[in-house]
Amino acid sequence: MKLPSKRAQLALSSAAAALLCLSLPAHAAGNVERGGDVFDAQCAECHSVKANKNKKGPTLFAVIGRKAGTVPDVVYSDAMKASGIVWTPDKVEAYIANPKGVVPGGKMKYDGKLNAQENADLLAFLATLR
Ligand code: HEC
Repeated sequence: MKLPSKRAQLALSSAAAALLCLSLPAHAAGNVERGGDVFDAQCAECHSVKANKNKKGPTLFAVIGRKAGTVPDVVYSDAMKASGIVWTPDKVEAYIANPKGVVPGGKMKYDGKLNAQENADLLAFLATLR
């Protein structure tokens, strides 16, 4: 058997390194399917993903880009209605990490602690709801 030359080995390992870099973007990329699982485990008790279907909390259908406190027929806290927030992925991430910190006087009771990957997955999933 002929062993690959040093040069061939070097070429192979730099190709592998390049592939590794491509698969590791600077920010953890969200996985929509796993984000759906995070949603089911963490949010579905109080939130639906269907338009016009509210539970204890407002529907999260089309939440990204929406102005806070504006789903019809939802009884929001005054704090949420007055918050002036427009829900971007960053805002949602900050809110679920600390609901009462981001909307003092708000009424969402959630104290889950998601790691960076779970957050990225959940946000990728929420962005598909439109
Ligand atoms: C125990 C119930 C409960 C859980 C669990 C919960 N929420 Fe909420 N959520 C609420 C309630 C109630 C409100 C309305 C808050 C207010 O009016 O102050 C709300 C509001 C929101 C809003 C603002 C929506 C709008 O129309 O302005 C977002 C975004 C949100 N929740 C995201 C989430 C996400 C994402 C999760 C899961 C990680 C989650 N929530 C888990 C009850 C919950």
